[in-house]
Amino acid sequence: MNELARRIRARIDTAGAMPVDAFIETCLGDPDHGYYRTRAPVGGAGDFTTAPEISQAFGELVGVWLGDRWLASGAPAAMRLVELGPGLGTLMEDALRALAKTLPGFLEAARLHLVEISRPMRKMQGERLGRHAPVFHDRFDDVPDDAPLFLVANEFFDALAVRQFVRRGPVWHERMVTVADDGFAFADGPPVAVPPLAPAQLADSPDGAVAESCERALEIAGAIGARLARRGGAACVIDYGTARSGWGDTLQAVRAHRKVAVFEAPGECDLTTHVDFPRLADAARRGGAAAFGPVTQADFLRRIGIHARFATLAKVAAPEARRRLEAASRRLLDPAEMGTLFKVVAFQPADLPPPPGFEG
Ligand SMILES: C[S@@+](CC[C@H](N)C(=O)[O-])C[C@H]1O[C@@H](n2cnc3c(N)ncnc32)[C@H](O)[C@@H]1O
Repeated sequence: MNELARRIRARIDTAGAMPVDAFIETCLGDPDHGYYRTRAPVGGAGDFTTAPEISQAFGELVGVWLGDRWLASGAPAAMRLVELGPGLGTLMEDALRALAKTLPGFLEAARLHLVEISRPMRKMQGERLGRHAPVFHDRFDDVPDDAPLFLVANEFFDALAVRQFVRRGPVWHERMVTVADDGFAFADGPPVAVPPLAPAQLADSPDGAVAESCERALEIAGAIGARLARRGGAACVIDYGTARSGWGDTLQAVRAHRKVAVFEAPGECDLTTHVDFPRLADAARRGGAAAFGPVTQADFLRRIGIHARFATLAKVAAPEARRRLEAASRRLLDPAEMGTLFKVVAFQPADLPPPPGFEG
């Protein structure tokens, strides 16, 4: 048993079972032992790979999308360019390189802000993006609220702690984590009078069903929506998750590119859940923005020109590099890979026409 597991057990022994969201929050965010506080797990040598690490085309196209939204907003002379959870900094580096070549004025207008809790990741992002003088923050709310906001988040919202609820007869209970043998187990907590979920979302759920709610994600989406309504700009959120809210247990642990048991090694595995895109979009709307999507990652990337970008890259590529481009294209677009499980939503002020990738 590792040190964090021992600490969580001691806390449960003293204070009783802890809600699932507190357990996830501790595993990911504990200042000394939390997964994201202490590690840089993205990439081949880490625990999982993300779209920006698969191909430069991903970050370049997201960059061009942000540039297009900046133009559509009247090319403001000063704006806050924000990434939530920038990982190795690859997406932003590819985006800014593409924008430097194609959109005069964008870089001069942008003040770069990175919202990141991981110390090792901050170090890597600082090295990678140092020439753009990034300002780091623990929370989105700390980004100065004084100019239009242009924001991207890839695989950020799935890393936020969710509450879980379990159905017993007609009553929903908070799902808790308690100690068992030399590890942990789920247990039922107090009944929840009104689970923070729409009744339609819980329809047809059987006895023992689990439902989830990520209140932190909704708060952040609401704050982004409010800021866009007030200041202008645009946001693009890419993640894996569902296009229809419903019940279900999506909590999973990943280590070294393999799914493992959720309680296997607290603080040493990534814990994630599927993003509830309709609720995220509703939260941004409640904040005052218009929300578009979700559309699948494959549809979004096709509509904003990924095939043309791959064709340009392939023209100058050696045969082996061309094979890698084909593999990257499959990985990003194929329904059996990331093409349909990953989805995209966009938020922007209500008075603008639909953004690229969301027309129709
Ligand atoms: C799954 S990684 C995705 C990295 C990157 N966006 C990419 O696509 O490669 C999640 C990122 O969010 C950061 N992160 C996780 N939880 C966070 C939180 N609560 N606040 C800020 N950053 C967080 C992680 O350190 C990491 O950089």
